[in-house]
Amino acid sequence: MQICHVQSETAKLIPCHQPVMVEEVLKLLNVKVDKIYIDATVGEGGHAEAILEAGGNVIGIDQDEAVIERARVRLAPYKDRVRLVHANFRFLKSILSRQDFPDRVCGIMADVGVSSYQLEAPERGFSFQLDSPLDMRMDGRSRLTAADLVNDLKDEELAGIFREYGEERAARKIARLIVASRSREGKITTTSQLVRVITTAVGFRPGSRIHPATRIFQALRIAVNDELEALKEFLDQAPEGLAPGGRLLVISFQSLEDRIVKHTFKAWERENWAAVLTKKPLRPVEHEVRNNPRCRSAKLRAVEIYSTPL
Ligand SMILES: C[S@@+](CC[C@H](N)C(=O)[O-])C[C@H]1O[C@@H](n2cnc3c(N)ncnc32)[C@H](O)[C@@H]1O
Repeated sequence: MQICHVQSETAKLIPCHQPVMVEEVLKLLNVKVDKIYIDATVGEGGHAEAILEAGGNVIGIDQDEAVIERARVRLAPYKDRVRLVHANFRFLKSILSRQDFPDRVCGIMADVGVSSYQLEAPERGFSFQLDSPLDMRMDGRSRLTAADLVNDLKDEELAGIFREYGEERAARKIARLIVASRSREGKITTTSQLVRVITTAVGFRPGSRIHPATRIFQALRIAVNDELEALKEFLDQAPEGLAPGGRLLVISFQSLEDRIVKHTFKAWERENWAAVLTKKPLRPVEHEVRNNPRCRSAKLRAVEIYSTPL
């Protein structure tokens, strides 16, 4: 069944996502007046708005229909300087081939992960702090939900996901308890049910700064949205969309994604057609973290393309 995500009345009241490291993004993108920039994860349009304010034009892509609707409202004053596309950035090449501008673009950015809206919308199931259906799909057109994984996979398959995408040490124990719980009490369909099973399995670890459900929710979200493969496919296609001198920026929020970006950029540099602009990733400064604690794990990496990829 395909369900398109639309905003509930409660969700409409959620405040806008605060874009992270905006100054650093503008500086690294080197925004020029009237040039075109791709924001491959336009979200609620925070970075896109900053690029538009700096004089650039934006093509904004996002796979979440409800989020794009929020961007549409926010960016309406910029009229035809912005175009929004509801799609997965893993199809970047085909998205760009359908646009009517002749040249390659000057900059592409992706701010991967979840938006505040997705985390706070009660119907989406991304947060272990809300009682929601176990969904976690960013794109309502896709079929697989977190509930499907939690209820249909064998314990070793679940453990694999928790280990690989959540780097969770207690992966096996949690997976076994999930399977035991669903055969004893029936399907696990809500975030609260899942949190109960996780905390029964591992308790609250003394001294741990993070909630025991954090890694499991991250792992399920990555699996449901095939996030790491989508990122790799996007990175494969981005250089071809850039003019010489064009820049690609990626902001990531967890080590698995950051590792992919770091190794990809380094490989391009070794092949002699790109230069890494951030030898170490940029991190948000202290006062930004104080004002927006969600940005604390952000890492920004950038690369400049100086010739066509091999
Ligand atoms: C951190 S938010 C971006 C926030 C945005 N920069 C802003 O200022 O509002 C991440 C966004 O990326 C989108 N996203 C994640 N993976 C995607 C993918 N593979 N293709 C398209 N959009 C994706 C999510 O739906 C979410 O809206």
